[in-house]
Amino acid sequence: MKLLIDDAHIELIKHIYEFYPVDGVTTNPTILANSGRKPYDVLHEIRAFIGTEAQLHVQAVAGEAALMVKEAQRIVKELGANTYVKIPAVPEGFKAMKELAELGIPFTATAVYTPMQAYLAGKCGAAYAAPYVNRIDNMGYDGIHTAKKIHDIFRKNEIKTEVLAASFKNSQQVLELCEYGVGASTAAPDIIDGLVKNQAITSAVAAFVEDFQRLTGEGKDMTNC
Ligand code: E4P
Repeated sequence: MKLLIDDAHIELIKHIYEFYPVDGVTTNPTILANSGRKPYDVLHEIRAFIGTEAQLHVQAVAGEAALMVKEAQRIVKELGANTYVKIPAVPEGFKAMKELAELGIPFTATAVYTPMQAYLAGKCGAAYAAPYVNRIDNMGYDGIHTAKKIHDIFRKNEIKTEVLAASFKNSQQVLELCEYGVGASTAAPDIIDGLVKNQAITSAVAAFVEDFQRLTGEGKDMTNC
C-alpha cells in the first residue's frame, strides 16, 4: 500500500518525509485554502521538495467537464510527471474523466462515497478512486467496509484502478486497509505519526538506552563506548 500525506503545509510534509517512507502528497481545495497561499505557489513548493518521482494529487474545481479538462491540462503542465488530477465522481466529472483518459492525463476520482461512483470512475480509466472513510462513517455507513468493497469490485472486474483511501480519523483505519491490500491511503501528518505512537514502544526503547548507559556511562553509544 502506498502511503501519502494529505496536507499542504510544507513544514509538516518535511517532518513526515524526514522520518517515514512516504510516496507523495495529496491536496484538495480545502487543504490549499488552509495554507492561505496562492495554490500554484504552494504546489510548486511541494513538488520541488518531494521531487518528480513522488505522486502529487491536485483537485480540479470547475463544475463543467470542459473546464475540468482545461484545469487538468494546466495542473500537469505546471507540476509535471507523477501529477494526478483529482476529479469529483459526479456526472460532469465522469465526462471529464473519459476525455482525460483519451488525453493520457492521469486522474484520481475523488469525493467517492459509494462503490458505484468508484466502479464508474474505474471504467473511465481512473488511476485511483478515493473513498472518504471518515465522512462515510459520519453518514452512518461503514467507510472501511466501503473502501474494501471498492477494492474487491476493481479486482473482480479486472479494472486496473486502485483505491486511494482518504479522510481518516485514526491510524488503526489506515492499518486495516493496509492489511487488506488496498493500493494507497492518504492521511494527515498526525495520523501518520500515530502509526507508531505507542507508549509501550517508547518505554521499551528508553529501557534499552538506560541499561546500556548503566553499563557504559552517560552519553555512551556503540560509537564511543
Ligand atoms: C482526499 O481525497 C480528500 O480530499 C480528503 O482526504 C478529505 O479528508 P477530510 O474528510 O478529512 O476533509
